[in-house]
Amino acid sequence: MSPFLLTRTLPEDATGADLRADVLQGMTRTPKELPPKWFYDARGSELFEEITRLPEYYPTRAEREILIARAPEIAAATGARTLVELGSGSSEKTRHLIDALLPELAAYVPVDVSESALTGAAEALAADLPDLQVHALVADFTRGLALPGTPGPRLVAFLGGTIGNLLPSERAAFLRSVRALLAPGDALLLGTDLVKDPATLVAAYDDAAGVTAAFNKNVLSVLARELGADADPADFDHVAVWDGDREWIEMRLRARHGLTVKIPELDLAVTFEAGEEMRTEVSAKFRQEGVRAELAVAGLELARWWTDEEGRFALSLATAV
Ligand code: AVJ
Repeated sequence: MSPFLLTRTLPEDATGADLRADVLQGMTRTPKELPPKWFYDARGSELFEEITRLPEYYPTRAEREILIARAPEIAAATGARTLVELGSGSSEKTRHLIDALLPELAAYVPVDVSESALTGAAEALAADLPDLQVHALVADFTRGLALPGTPGPRLVAFLGGTIGNLLPSERAAFLRSVRALLAPGDALLLGTDLVKDPATLVAAYDDAAGVTAAFNKNVLSVLARELGADADPADFDHVAVWDGDREWIEMRLRARHGLTVKIPELDLAVTFEAGEEMRTEVSAKFRQEGVRAELAVAGLELARWWTDEEGRFALSLATAV
């Protein structure tokens, strides 16, 4: 009764080729850097779920609070019949939105690079909501998307503050590609973490229990498994710093002493000096005027702005113009 479809638009070897290119580029330049998407193998996704339950990591709870409070307004404002969720992961928070959009909602299109995350969450949803068409897409949404021909109006949701993991130029390209998925009047629901006092921000990315440190170092396990790299997590310290000029948090791995990482699959040896840092993530924090301006450049008009009670996190509803 409820059709569950899964379309894979990533070539089978896309991840491998992508990782090799990112490691080759990022670890042979100065300063060294890796894109944050490589945290999320099965173990990394588990560690991220654990982060969302930490006392210091407020964004997930703050966004859930807003979604619960505002889902009816979002439903009324959009009248969406198709909900597309980018980077849907476990789809946990989205359930509040889906429940509010029913019974108007005809289709839910979760999009993620992780097929395992998609099938588990989306199949459970399809089983639970037999009248909802669930069409999961295994795709990299930063590289252009072809959506199934489900009915409009469309609402594209990009939650969790994940837009903050893109660099400013990547954000601009991403918002333009989202706009290209929409017809005039369709909407984007965007979650953004907000600028606040640095101590709160740094604590959220350097928790007392060390879960974020383990998450950061997990990228070394990914390099070991996928490329044969011999980087030892014990040789690196987890670093989280607030960049007040660019208004973003950076996570880095700092070499505790001089060392060489051999990466046989790339025929590469990477040397770290003692104390040398490799950037592994940028997590930008936003202000309303900045979000409004970035949306406007992409052809999206900020229509509603909601924050949690404490003003830590924002959900924006923007309309395609
Ligand atoms: C939810 C993916 C945006 O940047 O806050 C959590 C990932 N990194 N702790 C964020 C993350 C370190 C996270 N995103």
